[in-house]
Amino acid sequence: MSTIVIEHGTVVTASGSIEADVLVEGEQIVALLAPGTAPASAGSDGAGPLERVDASGKLVVPGGIDVHTHMEMPFGGTFSSDTFATGTEAAVWGGTTTIVDFAIAPRGGTLREGFDTWMGRAEGACAVDFGFHMILSEVTDETLAEMGQLVEDGVTSFKLFMAYPGVFYSDDGQILRAMQRAADSGATIMMHAENGIAIDVLVAQALAAGHGDPRFHGETRPPTLEGEATHRAIVLAQVAGCALYIVHLSAIEALAEVRAARDRGQAVFAETCPQYLFLGDELMAGPGLEGAKYVCSPPIRPRHHHDALWCGLGTDDLSVVATDHCPFCFKGQKELGRGDFSKIPNGLPGVEHRMDLIHQGVVTGRITAERWVELTSTAPARLFGLYPRKGSLLPGADADIVVYDPGRHQVLGAASHHMAVDYSAYEAMAVTGAVDTVIARGEIVLRDGSYRGRPGRGRFVPRTPFAGLEVPAPARPASLRDASSEVLR
Ligand code: URP
Ligand code: ZN
Ligand code: ZN
Repeated sequence: MSTIVIEHGTVVTASGSIEADVLVEGEQIVALLAPGTAPASAGSDGAGPLERVDASGKLVVPGGIDVHTHMEMPFGGTFSSDTFATGTEAAVWGGTTTIVDFAIAPRGGTLREGFDTWMGRAEGACAVDFGFHMILSEVTDETLAEMGQLVEDGVTSFKLFMAYPGVFYSDDGQILRAMQRAADSGATIMMHAENGIAIDVLVAQALAAGHGDPRFHGETRPPTLEGEATHRAIVLAQVAGCALYIVHLSAIEALAEVRAARDRGQAVFAETCPQYLFLGDELMAGPGLEGAKYVCSPPIRPRHHHDALWCGLGTDDLSVVATDHCPFCFKGQKELGRGDFSKIPNGLPGVEHRMDLIHQGVVTGRITAERWVELTSTAPARLFGLYPRKGSLLPGADADIVVYDPGRHQVLGAASHHMAVDYSAYEAMAVTGAVDTVIARGEIVLRDGSYRGRPGRGRFVPRTPFAGLEVPAPARPASLRDASSEVLR
């Protein structure tokens, strides 16, 4: 069994910071020790190899957990350009040691088929541990019936879409039924909250008027339609009594709905992503087709939304920062939308830069270092059934640890990043802070600027159902229950 001592660093967790050494044996953390008290040789019997990691002047934090990635995701006739192998190697470079990706149930097929397909892609390829959410692209009696089994198998969250009619879209009735089933099985519903029916009208009108440039992607998806959908999702979740997690929240209007629901005591949570904190909608109006690089949904918003979102991160109305990493190369992929913005594959690369970008909030004093850890590791672990095995530095936890240099300067860009995509959404951005060493389940996978991981070392992590539904679900009168979901209970 290998032993690692991380010494002389400042241990930062969501609950506080201390000077301590971290002792790792095998795949687990075994102790936090007073500085300088680590054993001189390895193993409980005092024998065996011991590796020392000097963290002087650095932060020792739980490995990042990105609960929103799309590796090899089919979208708009193409696939996102990172495989599970390339995307998780990039994750390591950025200090992320666990991802939760989205398996998609095929239309007309079963959830199990979707799970097996995504497992087939990820197993043997991932460099870090991984889990899955399940995208319910169709809500039918059959898919509803399968949800409970998936929860038992460790897929405890299901994403629904109020956007993309004809592709992933679910109507309110379907959403309510899935939410009721989630309430029954302890699952969390993740919602893409944009009013896709109204958006499609605006898109058709823009194209008919000859407005095909990327900037019209933003103009046809106004923040009010994100706010409206967020409100509706919250109301439906209240009726069903399920836990709701709003993904990729981008706008003040949506944040206000989440805040109001949380103030009422409803189990509503939300994530935002670095692109909604750092990028402005003027980027979609870049020269030629440049704006296509910034097309994602919800769209990048005008910059005045940034302050409100940072404020939400401070007040916990936004509980998580994930990336929604869904990269498409400019050449050959984003170019599919030349002349018609609706054909630009939606999504941005980001899995490598989340820890660094959110660390800028620490540098500028918007959040504490402890909150940085909470937003990028501990809260996602708690909300998605991974804690305390992941997202903590407690004895017994998986030894997923990042040694982070808070003072190192770096400049982000496509020439130096490790994601399999030909551009960076953060090209030439200077940031303070950089990953120094990464340990994933007890193995040093990044050290001294050299990657030591390998595809396939990551394992599937089954997750437990959400345990924090503090407000009892409202009793649903039998007459309001969907007859088929009664049968399925
Ligand atoms: O533009 C985005 N967000 N692409 C990924 C798919 C999704 O809706 O999360
Ligand atoms: Zn989405
Ligand atoms: Zn996504």
